[in-house]
Amino acid sequence: MTQRAIRGPALTFRGDPFRLPAGEALHYWPDALIRIEDGRIASVEDAAEGLARLPAGVPLTHHADALICPGFIDAHVHFPQMQMIGAFGAELLEWLDRYTFVAEQDFADEDHARDVAGRFLRELLRAGTTTAAVYCTVHPHSVDALFEESERFNTRMIAGKVLMDRNAPEGLLDTAGTGYAQSKALIERWHGRGRQLYCITPRFAPSSTEAQLEAAGRLWREHPGTYVQTHLCENPGEIAWVRELFPDRSSYLDVYDHAGLTGPRAIFGHAVHMSEDDFACCHHTGSALAHCPTSNLFLGSGLFRLFDARRADRPVRVGLGTDIGAGTSFSQLQSLNEAYKVAKLGGNALTPEQGFYLATRGGAEALRLDDRLGQIAPGFEADLVVLDLKATPLLEFRLAHARDLAETLFVLMTLGDDRAIRTTYIAGEPVYERDRAEPFVYPAAAR
Ligand code: GUN
Ligand code: ZN
Repeated sequence: MTQRAIRGPALTFRGDPFRLPAGEALHYWPDALIRIEDGRIASVEDAAEGLARLPAGVPLTHHADALICPGFIDAHVHFPQMQMIGAFGAELLEWLDRYTFVAEQDFADEDHARDVAGRFLRELLRAGTTTAAVYCTVHPHSVDALFEESERFNTRMIAGKVLMDRNAPEGLLDTAGTGYAQSKALIERWHGRGRQLYCITPRFAPSSTEAQLEAAGRLWREHPGTYVQTHLCENPGEIAWVRELFPDRSSYLDVYDHAGLTGPRAIFGHAVHMSEDDFACCHHTGSALAHCPTSNLFLGSGLFRLFDARRADRPVRVGLGTDIGAGTSFSQLQSLNEAYKVAKLGGNALTPEQGFYLATRGGAEALRLDDRLGQIAPGFEADLVVLDLKATPLLEFRLAHARDLAETLFVLMTLGDDRAIRTTYIAGEPVYERDRAEPFVYPAAAR
């Protein structure tokens, strides 16, 4: 048995701060001792008690001037788009043609896919993100590249091959038949292997025929426990195009619903321009939304109505997505910075407790992993992030003037980014340490 203990201030969510008072939803230990056994949290308690019970010889790391949180969860991100973050000037459909589809064609080259997958996993870990729902490209080997690197770090990733059988360059197209067969083979190779989980990934309605969407729905039904991810109601031009391409469907979401692509473990990215019927459909089917604020601002897509989505009488599960490369930061702290402003423009103030919940337990609930991820509690997988409260001179100075925990959290989500991530633990192993000579180390079992 491998054991280790981590000591320092820590927080977790015992409930949903969109429904409960912050003080009930959030639990904070000013000085916690977290004991980890074989990659899972064995106990968490006040350090005074935990230290007295800690068996001799268990390695202990003390994190001072820090905050230990559950690892951040990214509910929507494209690993091949890392090379085109910050592409100038366009809205969604033109941006896809001018930049995205150009970059994704580079992934025909397996070496390129492996190189970018390695960089991508490291950027996630540097940002304190321990689980993500990832779009690869149409090339099956791009999925192998991502999962192989994830397996080396022992991270829990949800990922899949993009399905596109129309309205994209020739080199990025599959067919309903080949897309189905390749995805099925990838499910058989990867789903449930170690911590890896497969996600059936039709890019969005305009780039799949009805036949392909139906094949994706069939594949999903045939493989319970797998995921579906796609884009929904991101941009007015895109929505008008879907109406033209699918005249028999009552709405954009109805295209997916009709193909059997709604339900638990379906994750819809963006959902900026949603009707009440759309939110109600997500609630009733148990589908989740990924709120991607840096992307929606960058492409000028619009303002996600988070507080409408989370409405108490028909709450929809919502995770937070970076949507790299339309998004502009890997850091979920920066996503929260922008999520706050997006909510504010809609007349709501996203509290720091709600923000940290979205990035941790809320994300786990959206991804249906809340029985094992997103909390610091016994039995949970020990994916943890250590925030450095003195990461920069400005952060240190500003936090010296914080009156309470809520203010500290709010300043972290305003000023924080990858510089504030001191250590990222994956299944109890410190795979990323900012200040180590070699910051990234594969866990012992994978070396
Ligand atoms: N809609 C279809 N594909 C994409 C993509 O790659 N990024 C974003 N932001 N929206 C999309
Ligand atoms: Zn996206």
